[in-house]
Amino acid sequence: MRAWRVHELGEPSKVLSLDDVERPQPGEGQVLVKVRAAALNFPDLLMAMGTYQERPPLPYTPGIELCGEIEGTGQRVIGTPSGGWGAFAEYALMDADYAFPVPDGMSDEKAAALHLTYQTGYVGLHRRANLQAGEWLLVHAGAGGVGTAAIQLGKAAGAHVIATAGGPRKVDVCRALGADHVIDYTTDDFVPVVKEVTGGHGADVVYDPVGGDVFDKSRRCIAFEGRLVVVGFTSGRIPEAPANHVLVKNYSVVGLHWGLYRKMDPARFGMVHEELSRLVVDGHIDPVIGEARPLAEAPQALQSLADRGTVGKVVLTP
Ligand SMILES: NC(=O)c1ccc[n+]([C@@H]2O[C@H](COP(=O)([O-])OP(=O)(O)OC[C@H]3O[C@@H](n4cnc5c(N)ncnc54)[C@H](OP(=O)(O)O)[C@@H]3O)[C@@H](O)[C@H]2O)c1
Repeated sequence: MRAWRVHELGEPSKVLSLDDVERPQPGEGQVLVKVRAAALNFPDLLMAMGTYQERPPLPYTPGIELCGEIEGTGQRVIGTPSGGWGAFAEYALMDADYAFPVPDGMSDEKAAALHLTYQTGYVGLHRRANLQAGEWLLVHAGAGGVGTAAIQLGKAAGAHVIATAGGPRKVDVCRALGADHVIDYTTDDFVPVVKEVTGGHGADVVYDPVGGDVFDKSRRCIAFEGRLVVVGFTSGRIPEAPANHVLVKNYSVVGLHWGLYRKMDPARFGMVHEELSRLVVDGHIDPVIGEARPLAEAPQALQSLADRGTVGKVVLTP
């Protein structure tokens, strides 16, 4: 079968090679799946460059989210490949207990995008930030994979959603998803806008996959008893929050590491999957597929993600 592999760490567009390899053999508790669609995630970039918290042994096949068909059964499932990587290939292994059914009628492409970013958003907004109906939610990089999921989940929870995004095309994506206010943060300072639209209250929950200056500014427009959720650092800078500022303004900085639930609270994935499936069926969430590209174009697709060139999710199909 064909499988993309990383043989040495570096820029994904340079270090990925499309190899002909043996199909993987399922071990105990695993299933072999024929990949029908694999979704890209920012950690695919970081992992290839060796800057992610997990470093798979080389060579490895990237790809941490997929929709596949369990070989010989016709049953479609979604989830993360066994070991946490391996979706950018024609076949992958999954742990049977973490291969979740695809909601009826959902396309392979959308299903591939329903797992990682939506689970992260659901756990981040509901469990970690305790988002309530009527609260103000500020979503950064709102047109991205994580961002589009958070806007939809925030609206589904009854929050007022303010989104930031880079450039007019991305602003339009956030508006189309129902964000109540959208700010192009590459041209406008979002701090005064958030203060103004919330009537001086500030954002109750900030969902931040960008970090750096965006995190620093978010601390200036967070509400009394607000929760600033640390989702990621696409800006490339890991920020810091001075403890005196957290104290004086009475807000919380809340860490979010969704993958850790698999170790600490394994039943959570299944419960969240049921909630997400219900939200799909009721029409509250619907993954945004910015691009579907052939598996052979994985390096170009990853480069586009690194260059801020994508909206929603990018998926690869065999
Ligand atoms: N904590 C968790 O458990 C968890 C789980 C999944 C993902 N994540 C994290 O969430 C973040 C988003 O992941 P994603 O896959 O959904 O990516 P994405 O949001 O689809 O793409 C990244 C976006 O970040 C923004 N960005 C701002 N500065 C950037 C820069 N210097 N370089 C590149 N992008 C920049 C861009 O949007 P604008 O142009 O609009 O600024 C870009 O489109 C990542 O940091 C990822 O590691 C965390």
